[in-house]
Amino acid sequence: MTSKLLEVKGLHKSFPLKNSLFQQKRFVHAVNGVTLELNEGETIGIVGESGCGKSTTGRCILRLIEPTSGEIIFQGKDITKIRKQEMKRFRRDIQMVFQNPMDSMNPKLTVAEIITEPLIAHSIPKEHRYRILKETMELVGLSESQLNRYPHEFSGGQRQRIGIARAITLRPKIVILDEPVSALDVSVQSQILNLLQDLQEELGLSYIFISHDLGVVEHIAHKVGVMYLGELVEFADKDQLFTEPLHPYTKALISAIPKSDPDEVKERIILQGELPSPANPPAGCKFHPRCAHANETCMSLNPILTDVNGRKVACHLYQE
Ligand SMILES: Nc1ncnc2c1ncn2[C@@H]1O[C@H](COP(=O)(O)OP(=O)(O)OP(=O)(O)O)[C@@H](O)[C@H]1O
Ligand SMILES: [Mg+2]
Repeated sequence: MTSKLLEVKGLHKSFPLKNSLFQQKRFVHAVNGVTLELNEGETIGIVGESGCGKSTTGRCILRLIEPTSGEIIFQGKDITKIRKQEMKRFRRDIQMVFQNPMDSMNPKLTVAEIITEPLIAHSIPKEHRYRILKETMELVGLSESQLNRYPHEFSGGQRQRIGIARAITLRPKIVILDEPVSALDVSVQSQILNLLQDLQEELGLSYIFISHDLGVVEHIAHKVGVMYLGELVEFADKDQLFTEPLHPYTKALISAIPKSDPDEVKERIILQGELPSPANPPAGCKFHPRCAHANETCMSLNPILTDVNGRKVACHLYQE
């Protein structure tokens, strides 16, 4: 039986735009009403073009940035309502891995110090720290002889292993992975993806896996959310989404995945026009200026995410 671990309801995040004194205050609506559920041991992939709000969604869930509105319910408690001090307890359970681990690591610390930092911050008794450190190093495939080396002495793939080790050292329940393999060579990518799958099984982790690469998401996710200009436009089981995408935007993204079989006949859907700015989104369905099926309704009404054949889709083509 699957049990619900995290619920995100109507998440919004807008950033104020810097403008001149006399102009009306304007905002970038980076995340606009995202709703999703994560079950124990499950991986949700979040995909979409650059700037569609994937990282902002991940950072809001961890409250690394404060959501403008919405609920983030973790184990039955809305963590947007709790104080920063109490948030520390939840930080133990929800961790993050970034695209470039060096950005979030102090280069002056050794691997041992980097992985132990969260244990100290969360007052894990000293007598347990070395054991946890050794176990964690082993879990991510780093050897004890590497304990006293510095991050710059490692390859990209090994550095990401250090980033993952630091994220799991407190044995969290959820790890938010923001483009964790995007900066790596393809062969190293698959090693890290396999490692993440092994860790998920061994530690019972749940993942939110953010990526612009649908091929990678197809490999690792159980469910997939497709974002467009801050909104979730489709949310479905992985197999459903890849074999029978519903939203025209999802169809275009999937048609652009390179073919693994050279004999496969696949027609690439080329999207018209540019991705609009989230500071000045089009009226109605935000995808309508690039959609081959757009009609008058699409130009004036923004479709809501609706249940369609066991998945959720926000498109007038599927609404009554
Ligand atoms: N701190 C900030 N201040 C102002 N605008 C921001 C800030 N962070 C993000 N944005 C804007 O919010 C929108 C969503 O950004 P976000 O980084 O979440 O997108 P993304 O989907 O992760 O993109 P990428 O694939 O490039 O990482 C973008 O228009 C971005 O410019
Ligand atoms: Mg991002």
